[in-house]
Amino acid sequence: MNLHQVSILFTAEEIARRVKSLAEEIAGEIEGDTVIVALLRGSFIFAADLVREMHYVDFHPQIDFMTLSSYGSNTESSGSVNIQRDITTDLEGKNVLIVDDILESGRTLSFAKHLLKDRGAKEVKVAVLLEKPGKKVVKVEADFVGFRVPDRFVVGYGLDCANFYRELPYIGILDLN
Ligand code: IMP
Ligand code: MG
Repeated sequence: MNLHQVSILFTAEEIARRVKSLAEEIAGEIEGDTVIVALLRGSFIFAADLVREMHYVDFHPQIDFMTLSSYGSNTESSGSVNIQRDITTDLEGKNVLIVDDILESGRTLSFAKHLLKDRGAKEVKVAVLLEKPGKKVVKVEADFVGFRVPDRFVVGYGLDCANFYRELPYIGILDLN
């Protein structure tokens, strides 16, 4: 694999600080039994760090994972969303917090929100690490947003390009030239 240059947007330290404050915000706003549904694969590092910060603010969710696909292996959105791996947790009467890597067109999160609400969740909220403003094609809001990013392709801290770059401890813009 020939790695391209990545220009750092947020360092590991900046991300850690923001994730800690997001855990505080979430714990302050959500009350009662909560199931976190982390959307794989992009949110795996964010979700892992977020739930450990939740421990320190006395927030104790159940955690499950769902794999949805809307992107192929390149940087173009395909438009439709499929369930590739489903959760096994009963959501009836529970608060659900969907955790995702980035809100761009909104297709993935809109699909996930409706799906989990239809399964009997009391309330479905959304936490995203990143939001790319101005790219939405579907009306959906995130309740908790880590950082807003420019309209460029970003990688690292779980976000990928063709399944590479996920291991970067920072988030940066991928320079494809
Ligand atoms: P959506 O367009 O809001 O449905 O976003 C779908 C998915 O596309 C996200 O969960 C990411 O996995 C991926 N995605 C969107 N923008 C980027 C990016 O800049 N870098 C890496 N993945 C992205
Ligand atoms: Mg994703």
